[in-house]
Amino acid sequence: MTDTRALRDAFGAFLTGVTVVTAVNGEGAPIGFTANSFTSVSLDPPLLLVCLAKTSRNLPTLMAVTGFGVNVLSEGQKNVSNTFARPVEDRFAAVEWKEGPHGSPVFNDAAAWFDCSVHERIDAGDHVVMIGRVEAFDNSGKTGLGYARGGYFTPALTENKLLANVDGAVEIGAVVERDGQILLVPSKLGGWTLPFFDKPDVAQPALEPLMVEQLGVNVRSGLLYSVYDDSETGQHRVVYRAALGDGQPEIGRMFPLSQLPLEDVPNPAVRDLLKRYAQESTLNEFGIYFGNQEKGRVHAVANRG
Ligand SMILES: Cc1cc2nc3c(=O)[nH]c(=O)nc-3n(C[C@H](O)[C@H](O)[C@H](O)COP(=O)(O)O)c2cc1C
Repeated sequence: MTDTRALRDAFGAFLTGVTVVTAVNGEGAPIGFTANSFTSVSLDPPLLLVCLAKTSRNLPTLMAVTGFGVNVLSEGQKNVSNTFARPVEDRFAAVEWKEGPHGSPVFNDAAAWFDCSVHERIDAGDHVVMIGRVEAFDNSGKTGLGYARGGYFTPALTENKLLANVDGAVEIGAVVERDGQILLVPSKLGGWTLPFFDKPDVAQPALEPLMVEQLGVNVRSGLLYSVYDDSETGQHRVVYRAALGDGQPEIGRMFPLSQLPLEDVPNPAVRDLLKRYAQESTLNEFGIYFGNQEKGRVHAVANRG
């Protein structure tokens, strides 16, 4: 039997863009959902595809329509992606849109849109592959929004800008290590996660008092380890490496790096971060991850002075 979560994580290693697939339902109302399973298929005839989960509430509509739209989101449209992936009542309130030439909703600020007729539907496991024939399209030239390993990335942002942009909802966290063991705390979703704290600014010295206050442990915080946007929590996350002082944390448990309970870590970004940390610790060569979730680059620490 396949381990579906491990398979989903592995599929998530493929860097994609993000689209919102749209259509008009039987009552004439616009519908849409976020999809990163978009692929261009053919130039002549002009075909594209997107895979629709059979669990989607929009399945009946999309099985009935004669056309659908695909909006390639631009890098400023992370909120649009989140809105169209969540059970929001009026998803279209989050975006400026108009009716495309072939009748499906198209977004004004998209990087590109394609207004399609349905070419073919292929039943494929727990999804339906929707192949569309492009009847009209527009390409704004805007940079697309990227997605990998459950998180967004924006190719135009440099590292410095990325850090400077970390405002709004920020969580600061740490991989806290002592003698080859790492501190994990109970996750709200069940299982384990890293300690994260709400933090309005990302100054690294803030971590130490937060750890004392909330976990009852002394830590010495070290280098930056990862900066990413977590699509599961909607948070910017800044993760440092930290060394645990004497004593036992009041919350959580220490796990040996070789026996991290990865299958009990519900958040895919944290799971991948822990995997990377465990791997790097065997070589004692830590990188700093910049980007969003696991896109971006891991820099050798030595290169950063
Ligand atoms: C980045 C991202 C990519 C997604 N890609 C797909 C996809 O390709 N196909 C799909 O069916 N759902 C995909 N989803 C999930 C749907 O957007 C989500 O389940 C949505 O709530 C479905 O809405 P609906 O049930 O109203 O159709 C994706 C979600 C995100 C955040």
